[in-house]
Amino acid sequence: KKKLTRIDLQKMKQDSQKAVWITAYDYWTAAFADQAGMDMILVGDSLGMCIYGYSGTVPVTMDQCIWHSEAVRRGAANTFIIGDMPFLSYQVSVEEAVRNAGRFHKEAGVDAIKLEGGRRVCPQIQAIADGGMLVMGHIGLTPQSSGQQGGFKAQGRTAAAAKDLIEDAMAIEAAGAFALLVEAVPPEVCGIIRERLSIPVYSIGAGWEADGQLMICSDVLGIFQAFTPKFVKKYENLGEKTVSAFQQYAQEARNGLFPKEEHAYKMVEKELPKLKK
Ligand code: KIV
Ligand code: NA
Repeated sequence: KKKLTRIDLQKMKQDSQKAVWITAYDYWTAAFADQAGMDMILVGDSLGMCIYGYSGTVPVTMDQCIWHSEAVRRGAANTFIIGDMPFLSYQVSVEEAVRNAGRFHKEAGVDAIKLEGGRRVCPQIQAIADGGMLVMGHIGLTPQSSGQQGGFKAQGRTAAAAKDLIEDAMAIEAAGAFALLVEAVPPEVCGIIRERLSIPVYSIGAGWEADGQLMICSDVLGIFQAFTPKFVKKYENLGEKTVSAFQQYAQEARNGLFPKEEHAYKMVEKELPKLKK
């Protein structure tokens, strides 16, 4: 398997071939995503919720994102990996944004980074792109500013709000982003954005009009139990399966049914040590 490039992703859009991607936060999930033939992996700051149990993404630090991106890189050497810029890693200044985007590349070997926001982060997008890095935009529901959005709420559902999103999207492309992610927005609004932009426009909860889809690994697997957004489809129930496996192990160990002969090491010498009584 050959790792995709920006040019491949652009060509997939031109050929109406959907790009499929998923989040991963650790080595094994990354390896499974790679084996499953995912086109891209996002090391989302959703790791704050999915891995660390925070109620949102705001507490997530650069170091956490770097460590998890490193693990994902080791698990998926041949997959295009996007590092997600956490809260306060790019908002304060353009300079900090470039430095932190660079950290993702130098320390974790990502292929691109993603950051949230529209026109207000275009100076950062442009500066990171000018630094030679691939930047993905992210508009619609933006969890790092969920306070301003009044919670984790769908966006762009009125004509005025949709117009605002479309203008953000166009500004992001003009600033030099290589792709755009649209989250929790009606399909027709995502469709207009896709029509207006020449870079790939991807969806998470933004319908079928996009150039590809992203899902959160813990949602696809049925691991994340705190809440389920409307746009989630659970393809497995690994949460229940995990509890059941843990219960079976506990029951067998309690009842002396595990471990058995086949799990035990054999002595290489028959004799056991002779000890004083
Ligand atoms: O952090 C993340 O996983 C994301 C997606 C929810 C879009 O940014
Ligand atoms: Na994110």
